[in-house]
Amino acid sequence: MARVLVTRVLPDGGLDPLVAAGHEIVQRSDDTPLTHDDLLRAVVDVDAVVCLLTDRVDEAVLAAGAAGRLQVVANVAVGYDNIDTTAARRLGIAVCNTPGVLDETTADLAFLLILAASRLAWEAESDLRGGRWHGWGVNQYLGRDVHGAVLGLVGYGRIGAAVARRAAGFGMTVLHHTRHDTGVAGYIAELDTLLAEADIVSLHVPLTESTRHLIGRSELALMGPHAVLVNTARGPVVDEEALADALHAGDIFAAGIDVYEGEPEIHPRLLSAPRAVLLPHVGSATLATRAKMAQMACDGVCAVLDGAVPANLVPA
Ligand code: GLV
Repeated sequence: MARVLVTRVLPDGGLDPLVAAGHEIVQRSDDTPLTHDDLLRAVVDVDAVVCLLTDRVDEAVLAAGAAGRLQVVANVAVGYDNIDTTAARRLGIAVCNTPGVLDETTADLAFLLILAASRLAWEAESDLRGGRWHGWGVNQYLGRDVHGAVLGLVGYGRIGAAVARRAAGFGMTVLHHTRHDTGVAGYIAELDTLLAEADIVSLHVPLTESTRHLIGRSELALMGPHAVLVNTARGPVVDEEALADALHAGDIFAAGIDVYEGEPEIHPRLLSAPRAVLLPHVGSATLATRAKMAQMACDGVCAVLDGAVPANLVPA
């Protein structure tokens, strides 16, 4: 029997694989985040950690675990930029994530933001709730059509492809850009070309050193005043201040944003920006999907503790 630290309360059923395997689960009764110091202390006598994207599992945490008996860290998220995978590899600690189970749910949310931002849904709704709507007007809340528009996907993994399937139902022309040619129709080799041609740009890349601030001032300028930007990937992929400036200046039409550079802090000029729909990182937030993500992370832990190679092992 192994000891498994679970850093937060997981959705119902999420811990089932650990329970079925008979592992000891170390979990606090309250659901407050562990501080970095708490995490450093908590990893010294466990075999595995199940953590969330809000836990910073850096080299110090991994080294503290490796000095004890830590074998595996499993992130209840598909993105794992919160874990120092280079240090993990060096220290012989496996890292798992949750690929596949959240694609459709996250694509739904991306499409929600495509629609809500393009049709100025937040502005219209907040005027109504705030008592500022005084009757129908022919020139009110004039958004941009989603049907028939050109959708530019930056990144074309499982989630990007799931957004493309939804776009087909809206009669959109779908372009996509990745570093390597996908061989799929709509592939655009140059990011700048895609940004210039798309009406709506949706981001589906992981956060790495090469995607940090992939969308900055010059990229937003290429998109132009008719364009809509949607980010359900990771906040730092977009220069948030540049985005806020572009929205205030009318350099792009609208934005639908689910992720932020310094979560949970949001750039104040983004909060005050017009034509922005801002959600609190809820891309995968459905009951069914969050439970599947938790189970998948725990499955990965069980496999590593069994000496097997888990299907959701982050490649070295
Ligand atoms: C959520 O953002 C995830 O990476 O799963």
